[in-house]
Amino acid sequence: MFPPPGFTLALLGATHRRKQFSSGDARVDEWLKHKPLAAMRKNTSTTRVLLHRDQTIAGYYTLANTALDVSLVPPELFGGQRPTKAPPTLTLAWLGVDQQFTGKGLGTKLFARALADGVRIYELVRFVAVIVDALTDANVSFYRSQGFEPVPGTTHKLYLSATTLLKVVLG
Ligand SMILES: CC(C)(COP(=O)(O)OP(=O)(O)OC[C@H]1O[C@@H](n2cnc3c(N)ncnc32)[C@H](O)[C@@H]1OP(=O)(O)O)[C@@H](O)C(=O)NCCC(=O)NCCS
Repeated sequence: MFPPPGFTLALLGATHRRKQFSSGDARVDEWLKHKPLAAMRKNTSTTRVLLHRDQTIAGYYTLANTALDVSLVPPELFGGQRPTKAPPTLTLAWLGVDQQFTGKGLGTKLFARALADGVRIYELVRFVAVIVDALTDANVSFYRSQGFEPVPGTTHKLYLSATTLLKVVLG
């Protein structure tokens, strides 16, 4: 069930209490504190927050339309060939859960919700793959366990082809 009982999902707004958010990874916390509202004003990414009933931000994720550099495109996405132009991708740019709420399944649920958003976006405007830039080796293992493959030539960039995305989310 999403959102879980006692939580709501909302588009990030200026009144949300971003400064108190603490996931344990400073990069994830600093991004939420300083960047996503400006990014939404500039139309470069969209951030949604999972709010606890007391309005604490329990978690968040950020999605962005992106394009994958031609040199990085896994050949299997294009029938073994390289495309001539950078193909459209959807990037799960950030995801975090506040330490007060970790270990309760919220990270997995937010991730699943981000992929479900991806399917809705795909139905309207196609893209070739979902991309994640994992912050740590543990993140890489998690995303690999969810069907993501490493982008050849990179260490922490992974992709899930749109075809696999549909299978993972729709079954
Ligand atoms: C990683 C994180 C999102 C997990 O949140 P959570 O609510 O505890 O997740 P769950 O309760 O669903 O966890 C189930 C397991 O899946 C892992 N997991 C879930 N979502 C994850 C994710 N996006 N990346 C890596 N691991 C994840 C958890 O670490 C946990 O592993 P464990 O049982 O070995 O400890 C959270 O700890 C966090 O925000 N960490 C710092 C920021 C971060 O790493 N974000 C991901 C950026 S790529």
